[in-house]
Amino acid sequence: MPTRQKHVKRETQQQESEIQAPKGKLGIMIPGMGAVATTFVAGVEAVRKGFAKPIGSLTQMGTIRLGKRTDARSPKVKEFVPLAGLDDLVFTGWDIFEDNMYAAASKAGVLERELLDRVKPFLTSIKPRKAVFDRNYVKKLDGPNVKKGKNKMDLAEQVRADIREFRKNSGATRLVTIWCGSTETFLEPTAAHQSIKAFEKAMTGNDENIAPSMIYAYASLMEGVPFANGAPNLTVDLPVMDQLSREHEAPICGKDYKTGQTLIKTILAPGFKARMIGLNGWFSTNILGNRDGEVLEDPGSFKTKEESKLSVLEHILQPELYPELYGKFTHKVRINYYPPRGDNKEGWDNIDIFGWLGYPMQIKVDFLCRDSILAAPLVLDLVLFLDLAQRTSELRGIGIQEWLSFYFKSPMCAPGLYPEHDLFIQLMKLKNTLRHLKGEELITHLGLEYYD
Ligand SMILES: NC(=O)c1ccc[n+]([C@@H]2O[C@H](COP(=O)([O-])OP(=O)(O)OC[C@H]3O[C@@H](n4cnc5c(N)ncnc54)[C@H](O)[C@@H]3O)[C@@H](O)[C@H]2O)c1
Repeated sequence: MPTRQKHVKRETQQQESEIQAPKGKLGIMIPGMGAVATTFVAGVEAVRKGFAKPIGSLTQMGTIRLGKRTDARSPKVKEFVPLAGLDDLVFTGWDIFEDNMYAAASKAGVLERELLDRVKPFLTSIKPRKAVFDRNYVKKLDGPNVKKGKNKMDLAEQVRADIREFRKNSGATRLVTIWCGSTETFLEPTAAHQSIKAFEKAMTGNDENIAPSMIYAYASLMEGVPFANGAPNLTVDLPVMDQLSREHEAPICGKDYKTGQTLIKTILAPGFKARMIGLNGWFSTNILGNRDGEVLEDPGSFKTKEESKLSVLEHILQPELYPELYGKFTHKVRINYYPPRGDNKEGWDNIDIFGWLGYPMQIKVDFLCRDSILAAPLVLDLVLFLDLAQRTSELRGIGIQEWLSFYFKSPMCAPGLYPEHDLFIQLMKLKNTLRHLKGEELITHLGLEYYD
């Protein structure tokens, strides 16, 4: 009789990727210094000063299992891969309002005054650069701190000059840009987005298909700076940006931070599918009263957000594979701007499911969350991981970093692939990527070797 051992193939050991050490400072550049951006920067400073903890951040709190379960090797993620330390982060940003980060954080009303006052000198020192902005793309906003230029290419040149100035004067050895700006109106890819040549011609001709967020993205990538997109705008989810990213070895990822209601959705839906529980309908509604909520009152911006939120269930539940379970469910998402709530959103989900012999059941979720508190640790992880990607030989030239899907509602992936939305697959993909880079065995959870 062959022993069970003979049937167990072990994963062959990978070669370690070449990863440069994170020497010197890492500059974080943020278009959009509103609620998310200020909660992130104030939080990093509070953690650096030792009076708060980076809860919700995988890079700071997470561990990664290596080898067999019996090996007892579970280092912290930040000790396993060489990430920039929090003390090495320096910040700048752009906004249409002139408020420094302290004033902007006070207005956003996410963090208590007491905490903000403990980091006041630091936050006050970060003042917004003039923004690239056009009301046609965010109808509900208007502000004075805006660049002027003869065309969109000229504006991109001005952003490139800002980037070079920040690189020089901050002393940063590496930079990362992360979009924390408002959700722009709904746009679809056009011929202008298909190649670098077409895009540059369109910028010079002030083509209306080029939104401000794309101008920041173009400028960053041309300067060799990685770019993450936290909003549902197209921004870097375009062939031209993939080309620029590869050519300039500046990794990209997006889009739309996966935080409140969609986070819960991508936790619950894989569970229903795992147990072959059917779905008749999922109704999601929200009330929120921050500026993001106000911007999303505009139908154009809401459409961008809605597309991002709706795609999740189709991809997780795979109705084409399970027509009897998921062939005709109704999925609706509503966002209501309700000022008294500020950043403290309330998200309700009514979920109509069915079980054995088709018997119906209901689940109600009422999530009283804090939008920016959930988003800030994602911003931190994304900038640290994008910087890691740029220092890693195997990742820096591949464009889209699909292994960072974990952080997004609408993850970008290579053409021809469907995006992976299941939070648990996304986490496994992220951790296996780190194991792979370090030459560690991938974890498949097969586990037969424990029974030899
Ligand atoms: N908080 C969350 O949980 C969450 C989750 C997913 C996505 N998002 C997205 O993150 C983004 C930021 O959210 P927020 O709550 O901080 O919003 P916010 O309104 O508080 O901040 C956005 C800031 O961007 C600025 N801005 C708009 N257009 C700009 C431009 N072209 N250049 C520079 N600045 C510009 C605005 O003036 C504002 O200060 C939004 O797009 C939101 O949809 C947030």
